[in-house]
Amino acid sequence: MKFFAVNGSPRPKCNTAQLLDKALEGVKSVFPDAEVERVNLYDFPFHGCKSCFACKVVNGKHYGKCVQKDDLKPILEEIVESDGIILGSPIYLSDVTGNMRCFLERFSFPFVAYSKTEVVEHKRMPLAYIYTMNASEEISHQIGYHDLHDHFERGLAMTFSEVDHLYVYETYQFKDYSRYVSDAFDESERREIRKNRFPKDLESAFELGKKIAIRAKQLD
Ligand SMILES: Cc1cc2nc3c(=O)[nH]c(=O)nc-3n(C[C@H](O)[C@H](O)[C@H](O)COP(=O)(O)O)c2cc1C
Repeated sequence: MKFFAVNGSPRPKCNTAQLLDKALEGVKSVFPDAEVERVNLYDFPFHGCKSCFACKVVNGKHYGKCVQKDDLKPILEEIVESDGIILGSPIYLSDVTGNMRCFLERFSFPFVAYSKTEVVEHKRMPLAYIYTMNASEEISHQIGYHDLHDHFERGLAMTFSEVDHLYVYETYQFKDYSRYVSDAFDESERREIRKNRFPKDLESAFELGKKIAIRAKQLD
């Protein structure tokens, strides 16, 4: 079995990456022999959908597949055949990051049938999403991040399967807050959250990974 974590943060060692690694540990706790891999979407150049519609040509040999040739292509080919995927992204300007959106266009659009009757045959696998952000839980609800992502996940759920998610609030953004203009944040409070709450967030990520593995077993 193979499971992927897809990191939509440009920082390969920070909050999102650490949570994704924990989720993969959760997967391994259920399937010790499973292969797991974290893909960092900012490690290589790629674009979103170029609207070529090769994936929708009538009787086309690439029907249901993305034909764009770039560094994402071979990874995408493996991901669409995987047994479970955990996506993770920081919130940037109230949405997932640009590279994550580009990835999602390439990952899911080929499977969207422009048909009232036909579906595109493909593997269905469990998905989870980890969102990390500066905002507190309260502000996140006020701003509507949850509405946005409920909406965003609905499309993925229709194409793949129900999406589990984890929201991680008030992340520790800088190693040294004093280097940056950042008085909108209380650094000592953030440090406290990092010390006391983030370990619980990591545990939740581990549980999320376990859940994805168990769902993969059920879908098998
Ligand atoms: C360009 C940019 C835009 C951001 N926009 C938001 C935002 O709209 N809301 C928010 O709560 N946090 C925002 N953040 C903060 C990040 O979401 C947060 O620090 C995240 O946990 C970083 O993840 P990472 O440590 O994995 O890179 C933004 C950060 C950057 C760099």
